[in-house]
Amino acid sequence: MKDSLVPDPARIEDIRNETPDVVTLRLVFEDRGKMETFSFRAGQFVELSVPKAGESTFCIASAPSDRGYIECSVKKVGRVTEAVHMLEPGGIVGIRGPYGNFFPIEAMKGGNVLFIGGGIGLVPLRSLIREVLSARSDFKRLSVVYGARSERDLVYKDELDEWRTRGDMEVVLALDPGGEMEDWKGEVGYVPSVLEKRTIETKDCTAVTCGPPVMIKRVLGVLDGMGFCSSQVYTTLEMKMKCGIGKCGRCNIGPLYVCKDGPVFTYERIKEFTEEIF
Ligand SMILES: Cc1cc2nc3c(=O)[nH]c(=O)nc-3n(C[C@H](O)[C@H](O)[C@H](O)COP(=O)(O)OP(=O)(O)OC[C@H]3O[C@@H](n4cnc5c(N)ncnc54)[C@H](O)[C@@H]3O)c2cc1C
Ligand code: FES
Repeated sequence: MKDSLVPDPARIEDIRNETPDVVTLRLVFEDRGKMETFSFRAGQFVELSVPKAGESTFCIASAPSDRGYIECSVKKVGRVTEAVHMLEPGGIVGIRGPYGNFFPIEAMKGGNVLFIGGGIGLVPLRSLIREVLSARSDFKRLSVVYGARSERDLVYKDELDEWRTRGDMEVVLALDPGGEMEDWKGEVGYVPSVLEKRTIETKDCTAVTCGPPVMIKRVLGVLDGMGFCSSQVYTTLEMKMKCGIGKCGRCNIGPLYVCKDGPVFTYERIKEFTEEIF
């Protein structure tokens, strides 16, 4: 049996610049059979390795219904991510996974879904949004509230435009105060404040949020105030990881391992650990 810690080689088919410090890699396993059988669910992550630089954890940004490739969007913050930014199309990286749990998309069917993202936190939400849109008629109202520091920090700009203009989902974009240029037509304000101003029907609605810890913490408070029950609210956490499979003990919060029990949690499950997490 193959050692689960040994990565599979994957070729970079394409690289897109999302922002000055975020790139999206489109990856195809060198082994075509592996690519055909690779399956995952929105919310799961992989361990991606760059020769001579090391390995890091990244969400799968594409959707399970995007067949024939996977995508990861990587923000440059340190050693491995800087090495990722040096890569070029045709280069080879290692991929192991998918790991972790996932968003319960089946349970969301028949209801409304509210996605709340900040900065690079749109990455795991993008996988879920694409998956939801691939079965649009199974869901009722879809709303996205997404914010970034400035217009150039918004990821997936073309896709945000597509979502805004398709007519069957609401997309609210916001920039942090001071980050807007004169021609900005969206909201100005931090994501939790922008969310707070909206009227949201909480009945039969699932809220899903990801972003910087400070944003998640405030968004959870706003959703609470709006009347969301903590079991209706999902977030995905990015504690530092090493093995990704529950063996090294690096990623725990209380008794939970983020790599194995998460990274997707209901607010209900993590409520008692909020001081530790945020
Ligand atoms: C489940 C999960 C999913 C993730 N998905 C993505 C993703 O889709 N895209 C993306 O760009 N990043 C994602 N991350 C974060 C990513 O793993 C780290 O940014 C990366 O490991 C940093 O590696 P490095 O060697 O470049 O940085 P290092 O040189 O190790 O560190 C540079 C700086 O980044 C900080 N850092 C390192 N790891 C983390 C972390 N996990 N969370 C917060 N800060 C960290 C360090 O404290 C340090 O300040 C995810 C993390 C987890 C756990
Ligand atoms: S990353 Fe090793 S136990 Fe979670």
